[in-house]
Amino acid sequence: MALIDGESNIVGVNRAWRSFADANGGLLADYGVGTNYIAMLDGMRECPACGENCNNDISLAYEVVGGLREVLEGRVKKFQLEYPCHSNTERRWFMLTVTPFEAPGPIRGVVAHEDITALKRSEEEALLQADRLANAFSSTISAISLFIEKRDPYTAGHQQQVARLCDAIASQLGMDAERRNGLRLGASIHDIGKISVPAEILARPGRLITPEYEIIRTHPEMGYDILKGIEFPWPIAEMIYQHHERLDGSGYPRQLSGEQICLEARILCVADVFDAMTSHRPYRAARPVEEGIAELQRGRGTIYDPLVVDAFMNFVAISR
Ligand SMILES: [Fe+2]
Repeated sequence: MALIDGESNIVGVNRAWRSFADANGGLLADYGVGTNYIAMLDGMRECPACGENCNNDISLAYEVVGGLREVLEGRVKKFQLEYPCHSNTERRWFMLTVTPFEAPGPIRGVVAHEDITALKRSEEEALLQADRLANAFSSTISAISLFIEKRDPYTAGHQQQVARLCDAIASQLGMDAERRNGLRLGASIHDIGKISVPAEILARPGRLITPEYEIIRTHPEMGYDILKGIEFPWPIAEMIYQHHERLDGSGYPRQLSGEQICLEARILCVADVFDAMTSHRPYRAARPVEEGIAELQRGRGTIYDPLVVDAFMNFVAISR
């Protein structure tokens, strides 16, 4: 810490200031006592903390000059600035704090440089850790997604494609990045409930008979049961439960309608229908994109959310 007078002349420094200067080859005579702080920073081409050319951003020095003046002129009670001060051997960060020296007599100020390296390191480590967790999480989701599609060869790639379409629609709707993230992850495993459908039914070519179809129709609820115990930061289990519901209540399994169906599921439904129609199936060829669009237009406002269909149409228009 340094004590400065109203003209920003250093009138005293503490022991820690002197030890730091000693350890860093400080160039200021008498540890800076008698030096004018503002004049020193104004002419600064080296780091204000260690006095070395430690690659610190010199523009910070000018910010400090402004802050010092504000405190000495009584306009603010405190000025703080966090800055890096890396030496050749060490990455370091400091917090500079300027406060008025509360004592009788003329206006003076206290300039303190606090080493916050340990705090910054743990912040960096926490961010890194969160990043690793997020990566592990999305890799796990991808593995599950792949596993589902391995058992259901006719719909291979379907979930990934639906996830991409969902993201494009959400972007058109202006959904925030965090919510989009959840939608993408949910979409990429939306048919997870098909794990409970016998592989023979999933892999059998040709139209399904009614009992088989009934078994397949259990997959939204099965998906919900599998995921409901996992504490996702997004309503993933619910969006999967609802992805075959329709706006007018004609869907399944719970015949939800309108706003009872969450926005994620209303988007998932549109993306799912479009991709299913325009992809190849063992019992029929892929239908042209125009037919998929016509189907969405036909059900716009009745079975499909009109805003979601419009967002999808915007996406189609800009990608052509
Ligand atoms: Fe489905």
